[in-house]
Amino acid sequence: MKAVKINPYIWVLHADIDSQDLFEGIWPIPEGVSLNAYVVKGQKTALIDLMRDWNNAPQELQKQLEDAGVDIKSIDYLVLNHLEPDHTGWLAEFKQINPKIEILATAKGIELVKSFYKVSDGLRAVKSGDKLDLGDGIELAFEEIPNVHWPETMVTFEPKSGVLFSCDAFGSYGRLGNRVFDDEYYAEDHALFEEESLRYYANIVASFSLFVKKAIDKIKNLDIKVIAPSHGLIWRDKPQTIIDRYLKYANYMEGPQEKEICVVWGSMYGNTRNALEALLQGIEDELVPYSIHRVPNEDVSFVLADAYKSAGIVIAMPTYEYKMFPPMAYVLNMFERKHVWNRKAMRIGSWGWVGGAKKEYEAAIAPLKWDCMESVEWAGAADDATLQMLRQRGREFARAIKAL
Ligand code: FEO
Repeated sequence: MKAVKINPYIWVLHADIDSQDLFEGIWPIPEGVSLNAYVVKGQKTALIDLMRDWNNAPQELQKQLEDAGVDIKSIDYLVLNHLEPDHTGWLAEFKQINPKIEILATAKGIELVKSFYKVSDGLRAVKSGDKLDLGDGIELAFEEIPNVHWPETMVTFEPKSGVLFSCDAFGSYGRLGNRVFDDEYYAEDHALFEEESLRYYANIVASFSLFVKKAIDKIKNLDIKVIAPSHGLIWRDKPQTIIDRYLKYANYMEGPQEKEICVVWGSMYGNTRNALEALLQGIEDELVPYSIHRVPNEDVSFVLADAYKSAGIVIAMPTYEYKMFPPMAYVLNMFERKHVWNRKAMRIGSWGWVGGAKKEYEAAIAPLKWDCMESVEWAGAADDATLQMLRQRGREFARAIKAL
């Protein structure tokens, strides 16, 4: 990959991560993820955000700095919008190569520079409204956007070009290859990026949706012409697209969500699975779209993406040792952590000797503020009467979603 110009004085440097390693140690990235950094060249030179030593990203960064005609030792400033190590992991090595670098971050970010990387010199704390003059009429303006994604996070804006360096905000999973801009992709490519931006949001950002809305409000008066995040596409053609998308995602937390149903199921011997078919027939009778995920076979990362956008949630699982099917307990815990709140929901499931999932389930969903339809449980295999009732319940549930 090569460094790419946004304009005559701003360059994109990026590394695509194609790894079996999990992002944040949790989330699979089958479509890869990009780590983006940026060089801004006035009379002084600034590097905005760094990378982690992952999949040869630092080597890619150094090669692309050469493409941009920048000697790594001559960079004057390193602006760190956010200190999570995917953007900073290579900092100690970078500082050894360029010991004179001045590092700019928020005051909280500076504390993390010290604690993560044991760097204690050449540090400058900045706050909202502060500016860094690079000469030639080029300056960087800083705006704190706490908790998008960590408390120390800020964005950097270059007013002359209207480029907003937004770090995690407006980011996405997905590799870029040699095409980094939104206008370099066909519609079908954008469909994949849209899926991956939702999954990224549901996995990484969803817990902070209130802060996302505050951040979008803070930047609304900037004359933004390009959104340049540190993961995913650079939006120079339609920057408002990704802003609107993030606002929609942030609003999913409280609602409204999409009039869709996310079905999450687990089954030990097929009795819950077979009965679920009847419920799904009822949903299909009403033509309400649904997604379906089996746990633990499917990773919770993908379950979260569909659950996060859907107004309806169906949980289908057997009782296991007097409690919930254990993988579902993990999923519901993730729903609580990632604020899958204010949904219509229903639960179905089989039990053997005795029920028991109900009590643990109700405790798990209490913080989620779900509006629950009555659960359906049965002993062993569902009989014909239960299957008919499930189909009817599926219809009723789907109609309730349509009526939202
Ligand atoms: Fe891409 Fe919160 O780091």
